[in-house]
Amino acid sequence: MSQTPADYSGPQRVLSGMQPTGQLHLGNYLGALKNWVSLQDDGAWDCFYCVVDMHAITMPHDPALLPDSVRSAAAAYIASGVDPSKSAIFAQSAVRAHAELAWIFNCVARLGWLERMTQFKDKAGKDKERASVGLFTYPVLQAADILVYKATHVPVGEDQKQHLELCRDIAARFNRDYGKGEAIFPTTEPVIQGPGARIMSLRDGSAKMSKSDVSDNSRINLDDDADKIAKKIKKAKTDPEPLPATVEELDKRPEASNLVGIYAALTGTSKADVLGEFGGEGFGKFKPALADVAVQYLAPISDEYRRLIGDKAEIDRVLAAGAEQASEVAEPVVAEARKLVGFWG
Ligand code: TRP
Repeated sequence: MSQTPADYSGPQRVLSGMQPTGQLHLGNYLGALKNWVSLQDDGAWDCFYCVVDMHAITMPHDPALLPDSVRSAAAAYIASGVDPSKSAIFAQSAVRAHAELAWIFNCVARLGWLERMTQFKDKAGKDKERASVGLFTYPVLQAADILVYKATHVPVGEDQKQHLELCRDIAARFNRDYGKGEAIFPTTEPVIQGPGARIMSLRDGSAKMSKSDVSDNSRINLDDDADKIAKKIKKAKTDPEPLPATVEELDKRPEASNLVGIYAALTGTSKADVLGEFGGEGFGKFKPALADVAVQYLAPISDEYRRLIGDKAEIDRVLAAGAEQASEVAEPVVAEARKLVGFWG
């Protein structure tokens, strides 16, 4: 992991967030949450994990469903091992400082920088004139999410690299224009997630595992019980060949590669290790082994998730405490930024 620049002497902090998009799945767990938990357990960082409900309204949404979607995401964080006594877990909209800093950053970021963002192009589709302005400035709010805690490290998937670069550009520009060159905001480093970062659909090895896939059998949801987990793995699409001996050969077979990747990510080993054990074996042998491993790791998460979701009061307590903790860090940062840009009071 690379270091923040030598002229930045603030604390090492981690921030990340996920949209409250309903049911989270194995891809979210292996691609993000598992990594959040290891950064938390590392002990070297103050960790802030938010549910980004302000980002959720950049696209059409149902206001009646949003609070429960936030609870559901928070429950998935906790069930996955994010521990409220070690990390701040909160809803982005509960900490007003995000919005305040985002406005200042909207005036620091340049139109040209945002026009290069590929995620906007993907999400806005063909008729971008009809996209919300919020969708366009989405990455500016994301930069505020990060820098309002002066976070030095952000665990994200590969697809967020461009937004992290924008965050660094905004920090540098702010430091230059308002900080007289002093490092007010750090240069944030992305922590790109490990081998589990890209979990593909169980029905199609070339598409990412996604909650919007019409087939429920394409993903393992974080609320699937042991029985469902095992069934979905047994039904997963494969090819008729036995597993190869090398990763090079495996990589030519997307479905096989995905299942081996899931096994490796769950057990914290590599694809090569898994092939060392199962190379030459058919799926008749590998799938039951994978189902066992998946149930062993995921069933406790799913049990805890289902317990939590039934106890809204407990989730709400965690979110309230997390928002308070987060505000204590964020408020002085916004106060500093307000002063530097010359705001009243
Ligand atoms: N844009 C991120 C995603 O789609 C979500 C997000 C919002 C985020 N704010 C963040 C991620 C801050 C990391 C840090 O995954």
